[in-house]
Amino acid sequence: MNLFEKLEEYGKRDYYPFHMPGHKRNISLLEAGNPYKIDITEIDGFDNLHEPEDILKEEMEKAARLFGSEETYFLINGSSCGLLAAISACTTHQDEIIIARNCHKSVYHGVLINELTPFYIYPQKEDKFGINLGILPEDVDNSLKEHPKAKAVVLVSPTYEGIVSDIQRIAAIVHSYGKILIVDEAHGAHFPFHSEFPKSAIGCGADIVIQSIHKTLPAFTQTALLHIQGERVNRGRLGRFLSVFQSTSPSYVLMAGISRCMEFLEKDGEACFDKYVKTLKNLYQEAEKLCRISLLDSVSGFERDISKLVVSVKNTSMTGRRFYDILLQRYHLQMEMAQDTYVLAMTSVFDTVEGFGRLFSALLEIDKELFDRTEDKEKGRGFWQKELLFTPYEASLMESIKVPFDRAIGKAAAGYIYLYPPGIPLLCPGERIDKESLEEILYYKRKGLRVHGITEENGIFISVIAGERAG
Ligand SMILES: Cc1ncc(COP(=O)(O)O)c(C=O)c1O
Repeated sequence: MNLFEKLEEYGKRDYYPFHMPGHKRNISLLEAGNPYKIDITEIDGFDNLHEPEDILKEEMEKAARLFGSEETYFLINGSSCGLLAAISACTTHQDEIIIARNCHKSVYHGVLINELTPFYIYPQKEDKFGINLGILPEDVDNSLKEHPKAKAVVLVSPTYEGIVSDIQRIAAIVHSYGKILIVDEAHGAHFPFHSEFPKSAIGCGADIVIQSIHKTLPAFTQTALLHIQGERVNRGRLGRFLSVFQSTSPSYVLMAGISRCMEFLEKDGEACFDKYVKTLKNLYQEAEKLCRISLLDSVSGFERDISKLVVSVKNTSMTGRRFYDILLQRYHLQMEMAQDTYVLAMTSVFDTVEGFGRLFSALLEIDKELFDRTEDKEKGRGFWQKELLFTPYEASLMESIKVPFDRAIGKAAAGYIYLYPPGIPLLCPGERIDKESLEEILYYKRKGLRVHGITEENGIFISVIAGERAG
């Protein structure tokens, strides 16, 4: 069976997608049906994404109006290409930059491309659910004081778990130092469309905001938006870098999908989002009936997006991974992510009442099967300061060797070590491997999670920098 046949067969089965993309495989979005019919190149009358002056320009202006931004670009290479372009445009070769350590891998790739030196700020940690929270404004302030040469600050808000940092206060602080604030709002494209969601970073004064519309809105995978406002960003430079990182053959099928998404938001958005938010709130209320499973509702000190269902089995007899497997195998409910003690269900305005019902019934049944509470003795540590022995760029030039796990302590990591999803590095290239990092990797493995970036052949091996420059 080839990939296409496999996907077609999967589409016929009853697996319910609590994962991205946010269209939830709803075929009514492109009534044209067969995508080959609308798959063209830059022929006359259809404009050019790299020099938009006609229909694509109008579509992007419409998106800017809908999202309340001054200027918006369509992205067909995901938020990843928006982050690469934003970081490249706001820094020059070998600059310094401040980034939140819980950023996605694409931010680290941006750091590598311009050979930047990163200084990290660390998210707060919450103990009850064991999740990372947001970034404190005072930590941004302190970092800017300490690193006055940094050109920009990059934060992720919301996080995968829906935690939102106080972007309004952070933007005011960053601007008081004359710097640029880039917000990775990949998971928050739906924020502007209902007052129950946190305020988007666009309305909070961030200079560049990047949103993956494919994650939480009805749009094809890879589609995203980049919004710019204010005078701090050199817009010509940003446009040029977007042309570097976007395909020279942007797919009209993907762009038509963005166009349909905008039309949906404009025409039916309000009514559909009202219904969606009601269903979500109802689910949170019903979840109070659960005895051992818990649904993350609010967290202290930070706003949270209720569309991300963080369903925890912490302090029960089950791991997050086992919980994920049971939901998949027994109930055909595909979650977005399994973590040590919880699973994450990503919802969108295109989820159905039936889908939510199936999830809740499954949770009720599993809840009854769980054993009495046992205090989880061990837990993930989250993020902590690690010594940067080499910048990510320096690390990329150096020879690496694989060493047995326990011989890696004190050496610089050669590659990324991370769980996927969420794709946030536990260790970045160039960071000094400490004992705690190794304990963290073992902890996740004990919880049944796949740790990427390590190899296992008669024991665990890690790639470390050997010391010789390659070229
Ligand atoms: C927080 C965050 N930022 C950026 C990205 C990259 O987005 P995209 O897949 O649209 O390129 C992801 C992807 O999962 C993400 O989780």
